[in-house]
Amino acid sequence: MQLLAVFGKPVLHSKSPQIFNTLFSKSNIDAFYTRFRVESGHEVVDAIRNFGIAGANITTPFKEAVLMCLNSVSNEVMTIGSINTIVFKDGKTIGYNTDYYGVTKAIEDSGVKIKGKSAIVLGAGGAGKAAAYGLAKEGASVTIVNRTLLKAEKAAKKLGCNFAPMEQLAMLLKTTDVLVSTILPDANPLLGITLPSNLAVLDANYRTSSIAAQATEQGCKIIPGERWLLRQAELAYFHFFGDWPNIETMEQALLNAKP
Ligand code: ATR
Repeated sequence: MQLLAVFGKPVLHSKSPQIFNTLFSKSNIDAFYTRFRVESGHEVVDAIRNFGIAGANITTPFKEAVLMCLNSVSNEVMTIGSINTIVFKDGKTIGYNTDYYGVTKAIEDSGVKIKGKSAIVLGAGGAGKAAAYGLAKEGASVTIVNRTLLKAEKAAKKLGCNFAPMEQLAMLLKTTDVLVSTILPDANPLLGITLPSNLAVLDANYRTSSIAAQATEQGCKIIPGERWLLRQAELAYFHFFGDWPNIETMEQALLNAKP
């Protein structure tokens, strides 16, 4: 039996085990997917090697820290600077990023076109950089806005995006089509700002978040964060097993997953 896992801190809320284990049982794959709460990127790689974990997903806050601990990484990871998927094969750890795919597919699944649109990415951590990369790759004009401006600047320069401080959010949002938030669920730099009703909002937090609640109340188009989870898992599955999973099975697993 192959063992797979998601690593993070916190990690108990993750619905990845339900999605993958449902896929394994429906497709008769002899594998089991679990979760590990860890304290560092090194711990992730040690656990992968010690337990012989064939495939792993990495969540907050280790998407950048784990990078330096791997044997090799994909071209996208070289540009984005963060990983969320590791394949362990022939004694080597290989890092991939599937978040950039997840975010753009989630937006398109909701009927929102990306090409030619103006987008803001809130946050310049692992998820924020992947979102900015994906949106720019699909032809959006992207501005990264982050509490620590220097991180936004560094990421923007690497990814060919713009960057701005939080203080400019209200002004920038007037001409923004898509907002992707990757910051913590209870942080909300949009409080006090009236969001344009034509704004499409995707919050990476697929449980409740202050930003998603405000956007819903103010009549914005909501792109479910769970769709991002689903679509990044789809590409992760491809890296693990070399073929594409059944997306309807994944959707059903997500619907049935315990909160
Ligand atoms: P992830 O892998 O999910 O992107 P991360 O790399 O830890 O997680 O990044 C967290 C992001 O949330 C960062 O952009 C962080 O901003 P800083 O770079 O300024 O630390 C942002 N963040 C965390 N707490 C925040 C808060 N209270 N208000 C605004 N932004 C916050």
